[in-house]
Amino acid sequence: MAKTIIISNRLPVQLQINNGSINAIPSVGGLATGMKSVHSGSESLWIGWSGLTDEDTPPELEDAIDKALKENGCAKVKLNAQEVDGFYFGFSNRTVWPLFHYFLKYSEFELDFWNTYKAVNQKFADAIIEKSDEDDTIWVHDYQLMLVPQMVREKRPNTSIGFFLHIPFPSYEIFRTLPWREEILEGLLGSDLIGFHTYDYERHFLSSVRRLLGLEVSFNEIYLDNRVIKVDSFPMGIDYKKFRDAALVQVERKQDNRSDLQQRLDDHKASAPDTKLILSIDRLDYSKGIAKRINAFEYFLNKYPEYKEKVRLIILAVPSRSNVPQYQLLKKEIDELVGRINGELSTVNWTPIWYFYRSLPFENLIDLYTSSDIAWLTPLRDGMNLVAKEYIATRTDKSGVLILSEMAGSAYEMNEALLINPNNFEQQADTLHQAITMPLEEQQSRNTFLQKRLERYNVEVWANEFMSALNQKKTAGHAYI
Ligand code: UDP
Ligand code: G6P
Repeated sequence: MAKTIIISNRLPVQLQINNGSINAIPSVGGLATGMKSVHSGSESLWIGWSGLTDEDTPPELEDAIDKALKENGCAKVKLNAQEVDGFYFGFSNRTVWPLFHYFLKYSEFELDFWNTYKAVNQKFADAIIEKSDEDDTIWVHDYQLMLVPQMVREKRPNTSIGFFLHIPFPSYEIFRTLPWREEILEGLLGSDLIGFHTYDYERHFLSSVRRLLGLEVSFNEIYLDNRVIKVDSFPMGIDYKKFRDAALVQVERKQDNRSDLQQRLDDHKASAPDTKLILSIDRLDYSKGIAKRINAFEYFLNKYPEYKEKVRLIILAVPSRSNVPQYQLLKKEIDELVGRINGELSTVNWTPIWYFYRSLPFENLIDLYTSSDIAWLTPLRDGMNLVAKEYIATRTDKSGVLILSEMAGSAYEMNEALLINPNNFEQQADTLHQAITMPLEEQQSRNTFLQKRLERYNVEVWANEFMSALNQKKTAGHAYI
């Protein structure tokens, strides 16, 4: 039976070796958490990097690693430390990630990074060829693997290949600064279908193809040699039911069955019933606007001093890409900011910011979502931002206010949230005030619309729409002449 081959750098599980035994821990990040829900072991194989380098892997554990991955419907691409440095920490996260998120100054154009990126993309393409059959459908994910579609196409001219970009595609004026811009576009054009989260990213991509490669583009179709490549937007959803059901279970859980975190949150509520909890959850990444958010919180407390001791900001910052210098600097900046603000403003009864630098298990994320009156998400750029959708899905009584940056892809579908410009502190302070004082009926009315939309366009619908568009292309054939 023909399979779907999912291919991404990050697998849904990350392997770690502790004292000779292998642990599989869930991966963090929208791609892995979202795709996990549509990956079914028997009909799809997910190929990616296990998170271990060759140097970290004792040869006698190779079989056990393969077995652990197979149990999760996965197969690995092996990478050594030098490859991880140049391909993952280097080109992917020191060149493409900052550039595509409009952080031009952070983007490094290093020939060594680029050469390693090419070589590692070839490794992924070879793994696909090795582990798939001609009639399988190949679905390549994200900016780490933009050359893979063309590399697979060279060996498999008739195979159906889809590509989905989980981050923004920047405007032509930004993209054109990349020294290897034509190669990246040509790599992507090996696909039959290229998907983006929003229509704007799709438009930016088409404009770059037209202007840099001079190809004929008609509406959302690109004509290349004897092929037609379709480009479309597919805003990624969440596993709505999973979040709603987990929240229902959490709300009904008996007193003595609560997690430590939930107990702490409940104690806080009991001791200060008027206090509002404001939540933010992100990977510790400069694109998420965490430092600006903390500064905006201080600005809010100065503008509305009556809320001192009446609000608390919970920041869950998940460690991410900590070998990249910009992430190390950001960590230091946030540590200092939180320390300074808590030092200056704390009272005997109140610490303004609770800061966690770690990743939390799913149950604890639900504890945070269900206990927080407001979610405040302020990315400076974000391909989608699934946390915004997850927060709304867990609000089973429809209370709660979402404040969301208009720079997040999810803002396009979440008009009933309070949308803000993360650079505008005045607006954010006033919006926090509006959120804190919003009547319950208004919260419920906004969330009713949001929940309906999220339930309808869940992650399964998203994956099905992408796959059926790809299959339609397959039925129609590649050639246009
Ligand atoms: N997440 C997680 N563990 C944590 C915190 C967050 O698994 O401790 C998940 C969260 O539930 C969400 C994803 O990480 O599904 C973050 O996705 P998002 O699209 O918001 O941002 P990304 O990290 O992909 O940029
Ligand atoms: C974003 C990217 C994903 C990536 C995730 C986590 O969601 O679009 O491709 O997997 O961040 O980042 P990491 O570098 O840990 O894989």
